[in-house]
Amino acid sequence: MARFTTDWFSHVIPLWKEYAVPRVVRGDSDGLEVGTYEGRSALWTLQYLLPQSHRRLYCLDLWEEEERRSRFQANVAARGVDQRIVQLQGPSSESLRKLPEDSKFDWIYIDGSHEARDCLTDAVLAFSRLSPGGVLVFDDYQWNARGRVHHPPRVAIDAFLHMWGNQIEILHIGYQVMISKSAKTPVTSQK
Ligand SMILES: C[S@@+](CC[C@H](N)C(=O)[O-])C[C@H]1O[C@@H](n2cnc3c(N)ncnc32)[C@H](O)[C@@H]1O
Repeated sequence: MARFTTDWFSHVIPLWKEYAVPRVVRGDSDGLEVGTYEGRSALWTLQYLLPQSHRRLYCLDLWEEEERRSRFQANVAARGVDQRIVQLQGPSSESLRKLPEDSKFDWIYIDGSHEARDCLTDAVLAFSRLSPGGVLVFDDYQWNARGRVHHPPRVAIDAFLHMWGNQIEILHIGYQVMISKSAKTPVTSQK
C-alpha cells in the first residue's frame, strides 16, 4: 500500500478530472512532473492521466531528504508502476536541460520550487517540451507566501501567461492554473 505523510493533492482531483483527463488520456506521449515529493500526484497521474502501460512519467525533485525519496520509491513499487517512472534527482533547472533531445510531453505539472524565478525557469524550459494540445498545470498560484520567498509563483505564472498568451489556451485559473498549448504556435519575429 502506498503511504504518504502530506496531502497537497486530493483537493485538485475534481479539477484534473474535468480539464486534464479528457485531453491527456487520449494522447500517446509521456508526462513530466516538477516536484514529486512522496509521489502522491505522480501515482494519480499514472493511473488516470497516463493509464496506458507504455506511457512514462518523468519525476523531477531535489529529494533533499533521503526519507522522502525512499518513500516515493516504495510507493511506486507498491503500486507496481516503478518501471514507468523516470526519476531525475537534482534542481529542476538542471534536470529539465538534461531531458532527451526529442522528448515531448502531453502532460506537465509544475509543483517544485515556490520561488518565482525558479517557477518561471521551470515553465519556460518545460513548455518547450509540451506537445500541441498538451496540458500544463501550475500549482500554488494563490499561495500565501508570507515573506518565505523573494517572490511567490504568482508573479512568474502571470508573466508566463502574458508572454506566451498567443500560444496557449487558458483552461482554468484558481489555486492552480491550467493551460493547453495551441495546436499551431505562431512564428516568433526575430526583429
Ligand atoms: C509540494 S511538494 C510536491 C508535491 C507533489 N507534487 C504531490 O502533490 O504530492 C514540492 C517538491 O518540490 C521539490 N523541489 C523544490 N525545489 C525544487 C527544485 N529547485 N528542483 C526540483 N525539485 C524541487 C521539493 O523537494 C518537494 O518535494
